[in-house]
Amino acid sequence: MTPYADSLGKTLVPKMAGAEKVIDLFAGCGGLSLGFEAAGFATEGFEMVPSAAETYRSNLIGHCETTTLEVGFDYPAADVVIGGPPCQPFSVRGKQQGMKDARDGFPIFIDAVRRIRPRVFLFENVRNLMYSHRWYLDLILDELETIGYSVECRCLNAVHYGVPQNRERLIVVGHRSSFHFPKPGNVAATVGDAIGDTIATIPEGARMLTPEQDAYIAEYERKSHCARPRDLYPDIPARTITCRNLAGATSDMQRVRLPDGRRRRLVVREAARLQSFPDWFEFCGNETQQFTQIGNAVPPLLAYNLAIAVRETLANKDGCAATTRRSERPASQLLLDI
Ligand SMILES: C[S@@+](CC[C@H](N)C(=O)[O-])C[C@H]1O[C@@H](n2cnc3c(N)ncnc32)[C@H](O)[C@@H]1O
Repeated sequence: MTPYADSLGKTLVPKMAGAEKVIDLFAGCGGLSLGFEAAGFATEGFEMVPSAAETYRSNLIGHCETTTLEVGFDYPAADVVIGGPPCQPFSVRGKQQGMKDARDGFPIFIDAVRRIRPRVFLFENVRNLMYSHRWYLDLILDELETIGYSVECRCLNAVHYGVPQNRERLIVVGHRSSFHFPKPGNVAATVGDAIGDTIATIPEGARMLTPEQDAYIAEYERKSHCARPRDLYPDIPARTITCRNLAGATSDMQRVRLPDGRRRRLVVREAARLQSFPDWFEFCGNETQQFTQIGNAVPPLLAYNLAIAVRETLANKDGCAATTRRSERPASQLLLDI
């Protein structure tokens, strides 16, 4: 274990259920919830994929119901609603269908906020929602403001919060008092910090790249004028971890180069560490399902920083500040943390 992994294990410890209740919609394996439990919240997840919900239940104190959410779902009461609505409709890699895509989870998230009326809500999504689908983001924010919340948006890079990975995500928080995004740190964790103990080895279950895959990658990188092969390097943070580049044999797959020049793919534990999951966190399901859970997750360390900020908001008196319409907000409030 590296000192980095050791410190993750000490920071990200679910506390006994706290007084404030958090409901996690589209909970996946519970990356976002883990950060909230480590900050002392009591969580309850809702997730439709059985293996992901099982991972949540096996690792967190809170329960996760295996269910397919829809508009009109009957939720329990909660102080905070969090979630990562499915983002395939907005990813630059997807077909960018936005609201027309049946996988769009925003109508469900907005309906949950309308019904539960939490003191705070928080959702995470891909950065592209701020650009190609800005009109849709504006529609979502208008809807949430109409319900009665002040809404803050910011693009955060997980690398500024102790995660050894460049991962930019849009974070939107709704509240009725004030909210301050966590301050970025100065020192970035690296791939070596996270997996320096295994990067030059062949861990059990590791899959080597075939000579054909090596040749394909070399050709792809030559054609795309890649200055440096997209291997993982111990002295810098990882590229964004996704389900696709963990599980799929694609040209941009996450891989390490061994001292003898051969390349291999990551094993589940390495991928989990690059997402800041502590080593005690075990994933359920087959390897592809585990990679999907990891690639989809909010890095728990980023979630923990956000949860501490939410805790500070809850310590304020709700309702003491008037709701700000986003149209009255200065553009500088939509900040990029890069
Ligand atoms: C981006 S992932 C969430 C990751 C999670 N926030 C984490 O940190 O681990 C989105 C999840 O939503 C789930 N999902 C999609 N549509 C759903 C629905 N209608 N009801 C319940 N879960 C759904 C998917 O199976 C997927 O696990």
